Amino acid sequence: MTPDGSKGLYPPSDEYRKSAVIKSAEEYEKIYNASIEDPVAYWTKEAEQIEWFSKDWKDAFTWNKRTSEFTWFKGGKLNVCYNCLDRHVKNGLKNTAAIIFQGEEDDDVKVYTYGRLLNEVEKFANVLKSKGIKKGDRVAVYLPMIPELVITLLACTRIGALHSVVFAGFSSEAIYNRVADCKAKLMVTSDGSFRAGKKIDMKGKVNEVLEKDTDIKTVIVVKRTNAEIFMEDDRDVWWHKEMAKAPERCEPEIMDAEDPLFLLYTSGTTGKPKGMVHTNGGYIVGAYSSYKYVFNYRPGQIHWCTADIGWITGHTYILYGPLSFGATTLLFEGVPNYPEEDRFWQVAEKWKVDLFYTAPTALRMIRKSGDEWIKKHDLSSLKMLASVGEPIDADVWKWYHTVIGGGRCPISDTWWQTETGSIIIAPMTGAFDLKPGSAMKPLPGIETTVLREDKTECDVGESGSLYITRPFPSLARTIWNDHKKFVDLYWSAVNGYYLTGDGAKIDPDGDHWLLGRVDDVISVAGHRIGAAEIEAALISHRAVAEAAVVPVPDEIKGEAIYTFVTLKNGFVDSDELKKELINQVRNVVGPIATPKTIQISSGLPKTRSGKIMRRILRKIAGGGKYDDLGDTTTLLDPKIVESLIEGRK
Ligand code: WTA
Repeated sequence: MTPDGSKGLYPPSDEYRKSAVIKSAEEYEKIYNASIEDPVAYWTKEAEQIEWFSKDWKDAFTWNKRTSEFTWFKGGKLNVCYNCLDRHVKNGLKNTAAIIFQGEEDDDVKVYTYGRLLNEVEKFANVLKSKGIKKGDRVAVYLPMIPELVITLLACTRIGALHSVVFAGFSSEAIYNRVADCKAKLMVTSDGSFRAGKKIDMKGKVNEVLEKDTDIKTVIVVKRTNAEIFMEDDRDVWWHKEMAKAPERCEPEIMDAEDPLFLLYTSGTTGKPKGMVHTNGGYIVGAYSSYKYVFNYRPGQIHWCTADIGWITGHTYILYGPLSFGATTLLFEGVPNYPEEDRFWQVAEKWKVDLFYTAPTALRMIRKSGDEWIKKHDLSSLKMLASVGEPIDADVWKWYHTVIGGGRCPISDTWWQTETGSIIIAPMTGAFDLKPGSAMKPLPGIETTVLREDKTECDVGESGSLYITRPFPSLARTIWNDHKKFVDLYWSAVNGYYLTGDGAKIDPDGDHWLLGRVDDVISVAGHRIGAAEIEAALISHRAVAEAAVVPVPDEIKGEAIYTFVTLKNGFVDSDELKKELINQVRNVVGPIATPKTIQISSGLPKTRSGKIMRRILRKIAGGGKYDDLGDTTTLLDPKIVESLIEGRK
């Protein structure tokens, strides 16, 4: 039963409803229906809420279904950095906090007003220019969660350079692949970072990357930990020295709406990560509009998204969404459980955070450590909570609502992807009686459908594959240097529908229930890792003949990595070898991809045509018995399955 005893639903308070942008289900329906009747008119109205240097687009939307090329607001001119900073300074927010930086040490705090942030960004934009960076060039960013990271990204957008942020948990090989693929010319990094009380080396990894052939001519290094590091004379320069001599003013570059804004790599079903390309106009319209509808931000509030800027969530909801809206956004360097299990709540209490956005994996970890850590703190400033990255089950949802939200804060379960750039399905928290475990309804302007394998539409309540029926502004335009792959992966299942790669069902109320990936992408702590990338890392080890990687359920991380490996002749199973294989994955892909289990076996289940049957391996890894495995008649050698079950760890 729910607090008010109604059908298991959680209505927002009247007070919250009143403060929301969309205040009732009827209002949502009206806006939504009109938006689907005429999506171009709807998105054009949304686009008018940001500032354009010129709105001279001929057609707000063009779409060539055959080539899967589409444009939004092409011909319109704008600058994203201008929209995030100059516009607010001009409109009276000069002395309002844009970013509150909270370092891992409690007294390590910096507050940047919109005025000061603009000033720093202009200077750094000039530093980039002085190193030869111009419109269209790529800048690789490998930084901890410090203000210089935000300054770097905004400086890139100011001059029209594309940033490509590499998450700090990746190995040097993974960094190299991302830097080489987009031919980045310059890299911004730091001497190191702080994580859970330890100093982590960053520049050393960058040095390793740059031993190989790349296009990087300059490395700008932020002093963060004061670690002793190697600086290459002609290549590496210090951030603070460059900033000290940089001119103050830098005019924003006039960008076309369809000019690329940034790249962000994400794992997929092939071994090679894909550089998703987002554009200036469409992306910022999606970031702004979704921020407005989902978070109901009010002036004076503090927004805190706990993601890392290395992922799309950090890009859109630490940086571009809140700043394009003129919000105050908290940038937190630390982790949830250091120095103690209540670090998040110390920070939320200290800064009187209003809006809090995190991932189910963090919530599960926090819940496990005990509610007393939360109850120690006054969290009465919280108004609204949100979740992203993986399905949040009803149990964790209710706990989040009661223990963290004090039974008072509505929760928005937000579904979206690196590709979509901004939130696609989520309850507008002022409009709906919330349904734990469901991401509920698409945002205005977005139409979804769930299809069976034969591409017919699923019945109500039936699980299938989730599609979006047409391009929307913040959807990535292509994969860097590989438009064919973009077409094949996302648009070829049903011509004209965008294939999300997620399973879903829609209930009789039209609410969406997300069911996880339907492809070979594993979601470890909400981070996407391609099974193929881990397999490739394992196969590159001298002892490995074949490898297959599947997800297994994990109490905290949601999914963990289970690997099946067969060895080449002459190698035998040993703990030593397993350790080596785990290290191999850590070195090639990164610590985030560390396998939970390595099972060495004499063979893998294959079809007669030689395809590894991952469906069966998933069941075996998850503890399934022979009878649970479904159809095994297409297997080349059914005996292998028995030996795999026997050898299970
Ligand atoms: C999953 C993160 C269920 C999904 C923004 C998607 C979710 C992938 C949710 C994208 C949610 C994200 N409920 N699943 N609320 N949010 N996902 O690109 O499988 O890092 O395809 O973007 O995360 O992960 P990505």
